[in-house]
Order: sequence, then structure tokens, then C-alpha cells
Amino acid sequence: MRPAVIAGNWKMNGSAAQAETLIKGLLEASSEDAAATMVVCPSYPFLGQAAQLLAGSHIALGAQDMSPHEKGAFTGEVSAQMLLTVGVRYVILGHSERRLYHAESDQLVNAKAKAALSAGLIPIICIGETLTEREADRTEEIVGGQLAGSLVGLTADQLKKSILAYEPVWAIGTGKTATPDMAQAVHQFLRAGLARINEEAATLMPILYGGSVKPDNAKDLLSQPDIDGALVGGAALKADDFCKIVNAV
Ligand code: PGA
Repeated sequence: MRPAVIAGNWKMNGSAAQAETLIKGLLEASSEDAAATMVVCPSYPFLGQAAQLLAGSHIALGAQDMSPHEKGAFTGEVSAQMLLTVGVRYVILGHSERRLYHAESDQLVNAKAKAALSAGLIPIICIGETLTEREADRTEEIVGGQLAGSLVGLTADQLKKSILAYEPVWAIGTGKTATPDMAQAVHQFLRAGLARINEEAATLMPILYGGSVKPDNAKDLLSQPDIDGALVGGAALKADDFCKIVNAV
């Protein structure tokens, strides 16, 4: 059985006070027997504070990015080990905003995934096509390439510990969601691609859907056989909305 995972990507939003309110709200509105593993991913400055508030709770902490390097002269970067020491267990890698605004390639995402896994973090590896690519009927070619490039060289054991997130770029923050059928078709394609890499890992790796997931569309998306959870942006900033998405599992 694949675990259901609902991860909230706060992006570059909030203040220390808002982070506290949101986390307290999440702890109040959800319970230990939530149907899914809940992960919150605040910005770096709020990770330590979030870790304290979440200590001993059922909600896990994630970061939004990390360096592929262990240490050294990499100004502005944060290592996997640094994240672990503040209590982070998950890390989003290769988000389309990183790929677009910071020119992150599959090769870099792959190096980050290897560094995360070697250190003991669980990577949430993001892939997805743009609108132009979808309209040109290139979705499978694009996500297939990103899948192969981002996962190359990972051992079977590392694959089994990883999470994949399919996030069509045109659906992120736009209010446009892939229909459950559209999303399921890509998830099924990705699952088959994973099976060609490692059959067992394909049955174990959760594939999350991301892109304008809201309480009112979560159930239809999450009921698809190959959609194992969600990576949520905007709706993760409201405790009630995020918990409704968790309950939709
Ligand atoms: P959204 O963002 O839910 O606001 O569309 C999703 C994401 O970027 O992970």
C-alpha cells in the first residue's frame, strides 16, 4: 500500500506570526489518525520555529529546496544536513518555479535528490509540462524526460523512499486544475515509466498531484487510482482548507 501524502508548499509567504497561527490552526483542525501523512513546507527562516511547534505531533516538516552540496563556499545555500538538524524530514525538489526562475535542470534536481537521500531526507521530486508543451501534445515526452533525468542513478532503495509530484505548470496558482481524468492519465504514464526503472519502487512510490488543489476538487482528484496525494500551494496557507484536503483522502 502506498501512503497518502498531503504536502503544503507555503512558497515565499507569511511572517513568523502567521506561521505560528497557521501551524497552531493545523494542529487544532487535524488529528493523529488523519488519513494522510501531513507535511508543511514553510520558508527557511520559519523552519526552526515550525519544528518547535510541531514537535511530537502528527505533522511533519519539509523544506522547499536545498543545495546539492554538503558544505562549503555556496553563499545563500542550505544543506541537507542543516535541514535535518532543525527537524526537517521532507524536501521539495525541482519545483517548476525553481526550474523556471532559477534555471534548475533535471541534472541539478537529480544531484539534489541524491544528496537529500544520502543524508536521510525524503525528496518530493516535482515534474510537469507547460501549457505550450501540453498544447503541442508533448506532455508525455516532457514529463517522461524529466522523470528519467531526475531519477537517474538512484538505487532501488532510494527510489522506494522518494515521492514524485506531477504538477502541470499551467495549473499552478492559476485556478485551472487538470481534470481528474487528465491527471490520472499522466500519473498512470509516470507509474508505468517508474515500473520500467524498478517495478517494486513503482508500486511503492507515492505520486502526488499539484496545481490548484482545493477542498472542492480534492476528492475527485484523490479518488483516482494513481493519485496518492497532493502538493498544495495556495490552499495550504489556510488551515481549514488544508485540513479539508487531508480529509478528502
Ligand atoms: P497551487 O500551487 O496549489 O497554488 O496551484 C501548487 C504548487 O506550486 O505546489
